[in-house]
Amino acid sequence: MPRARVLRVDPLRPSGEAIEEAAEVLRGGGLVAFPTETVYGLGADAFNPEAVYRVYRAKRRPLDNPLIVHVSSPEMLHRVAADVPDWVASALSVAWPGPLTVVLRRNPSLPAAVSGGLETVAVRCPAHPVALKLIEALGGPVAAPSANIAGRPSPTRAEHVLEDLGDEVDVVVDAGETFFGIESTVVDVLSPRPRILRPGPVGPEELEKVFGTKIDVPPFARGVEVFGERPPSPGLKYRHYAPSKRLVLVERGSCDDSSYLEFLTRMLESHSPEPPALLASNETSDAVRERLGDSVAYIRLGSRGNLFEIAKNLFSSLRSLDRHEGVSVAFSEAVEERGVGLAIMNRLRKASSERIICA
Ligand code: TXA
Ligand code: MG
Repeated sequence: MPRARVLRVDPLRPSGEAIEEAAEVLRGGGLVAFPTETVYGLGADAFNPEAVYRVYRAKRRPLDNPLIVHVSSPEMLHRVAADVPDWVASALSVAWPGPLTVVLRRNPSLPAAVSGGLETVAVRCPAHPVALKLIEALGGPVAAPSANIAGRPSPTRAEHVLEDLGDEVDVVVDAGETFFGIESTVVDVLSPRPRILRPGPVGPEELEKVFGTKIDVPPFARGVEVFGERPPSPGLKYRHYAPSKRLVLVERGSCDDSSYLEFLTRMLESHSPEPPALLASNETSDAVRERLGDSVAYIRLGSRGNLFEIAKNLFSSLRSLDRHEGVSVAFSEAVEERGVGLAIMNRLRKASSERIICA
């Protein structure tokens, strides 16, 4: 039995009692896993360095990979960040609460441990009633990375948190499935032009509207490594989201839809007699099933016309892959890199052990 106490709450109207109980644990230096609109976070009082170190230890996260600080108001933003430019503050007044994290200068009074020793800090104001109420009940910012063991897919349900961290965390506030299922967009607003460090639910097109300026989408934001280039965000050095099985991402290259389907089917066929798994949209799964029937284990991600649905199912699908007995290799379909599709492809590229390109 995991050590963690589980408090079940309604996602939209959480009981004040449960929130107060969780806030009390944070006040005492404990760890509370809680839902945000993106994924579950592993929270600690951001102004308590001991509690912050417990977060790194629990996750087995390298100490140089900083956490995100969660705030519930602009006033709280100024307690953790310094010199917030006006254009950033006014963009955030539109984008927050929401799945957008900005990297700013760290307020020197915020413990450096939160930022892995950096002079900067990543901050966001989550749009989940449970997260907001918890921060308000604590009366201060909550430092929280995703509540998974480092390198594993992020948790979109309380069960995933218990699977990874059931013995490490004091309380899990369980409000069911998170809304987006993929982590927030992280934007560096200190560089001359805002640039995406990690793509997320707020796509580049939308960011340009929020900030009223062009946004840089460097290769690492797509999950593509450029030889010899140093990653600007510590998290980018580490492999992520990986299932324990072989995962082969089949990139579209210059193939059109029908030759891509042909190529994918051939790849799957070449793996018989052992059944491979296929992580794909409902449409592609149906088309492959017509050709290969039950010789493939299908993991359906949702409709290709709704990339938010695919994003929402991605991490739980990667976790479920590990539970498929008799399957040792999985192939994954690639999606179009627009909107949240950029984030999906970033996660798939980081999760996969191999990539092949349709030709
Ligand atoms: O949706 C989310 O963002 C979730 C929920 C819980 O809020 N949190 C999350 O945190 O995904 P985490 O710690 O798993 O990812 C934070 C990312 C890492 O890639 C980290 O390297 C980057 O943000 N980051 C944090 N602080 C940074 C900083 N000061 N400079 C550059 N990158 C930073
Ligand atoms: Mg994470």
